[in-house]
Amino acid sequence: MARATVTPEQLRAHVLQLGEKHPPISLDSVDRTVHDPRGVRETFGPVIGYLSRVELEVDRNVLELLTLLPEVDATDRIFFADVWQPQEIQHGLILDRLQQDLGMPAAEPNTTVISPKIRLLGALSHLRPVQEVARLLYYLTGAATERSAVLAYNRLSEGLERMDERAVARTVVAPIKQQEPGHFAYYRLAATQMMQSGALRPWQLRLARVLRRQSFALVGVNRPGQDADYGRVVSTLGIDDDLEGFARDISRVERELLWAGQKGMEVPGYVLAALKDAVAAYRERHPAGAGGLTTA
Ligand SMILES: [Fe+2]
Ligand SMILES: [Fe+2]
Repeated sequence: MARATVTPEQLRAHVLQLGEKHPPISLDSVDRTVHDPRGVRETFGPVIGYLSRVELEVDRNVLELLTLLPEVDATDRIFFADVWQPQEIQHGLILDRLQQDLGMPAAEPNTTVISPKIRLLGALSHLRPVQEVARLLYYLTGAATERSAVLAYNRLSEGLERMDERAVARTVVAPIKQQEPGHFAYYRLAATQMMQSGALRPWQLRLARVLRRQSFALVGVNRPGQDADYGRVVSTLGIDDDLEGFARDISRVERELLWAGQKGMEVPGYVLAALKDAVAAYRERHPAGAGGLTTA
């Protein structure tokens, strides 16, 4: 599919506009009134807990980014330091406060420990051509992650509205979900600009495909057991009814940019396989408890 050409100036303008339009959400601006804390905890507790952890892990994501991209450019730096991190950390703090209001323990995010895989790629990234590959992978990961967040917050918001928990739906989840599409757009534009500018040679693209297939991970899945936690989130939100549709949606950017030559590829197999594995891990852990929204 032909896309309009994205220039570095447009990318920079997008970032500056995001920062102006979406200041970080303050804790004081949200109304955490919950009418039925037990009901919300039992229905959406694990979703709120998972999202708060992942949002708070933004601080580790920044360390990973600096490891992968030692020569990060000015626009990327403005995005992650002035726009993205300040927004995401507030999402995490607000959701963490909410889950404690609901009687759940505080989040335990990993904000410091970078995986060996990323450290290895980071070491190789001192070679400029490898760093360019890492940069594309970073954008593709960001696009898939942010798109997942948009879909998850949409479902969470609908579910809370159905429970008549309007304060939390409208003053907590709604403002958070309004900030995610701008993050997604940044990664999509940045990856598109990189591909359109011909920054990568064929061997670099081949390497990017191999690394993407081998290193793909669902957002927030870094330790044993977290795949089942992710499976629980998608099951609770009813996303497991159409995992293929979800996979197609979150992988759209990489499908168009990385796998464009692969005719007929609807969904990268590694994305769908990771989702199916996560749901299976959850069902194995909770054989009888795999109820989604329909049982709420
Ligand atoms: Fe967020
Ligand atoms: Fe985000």
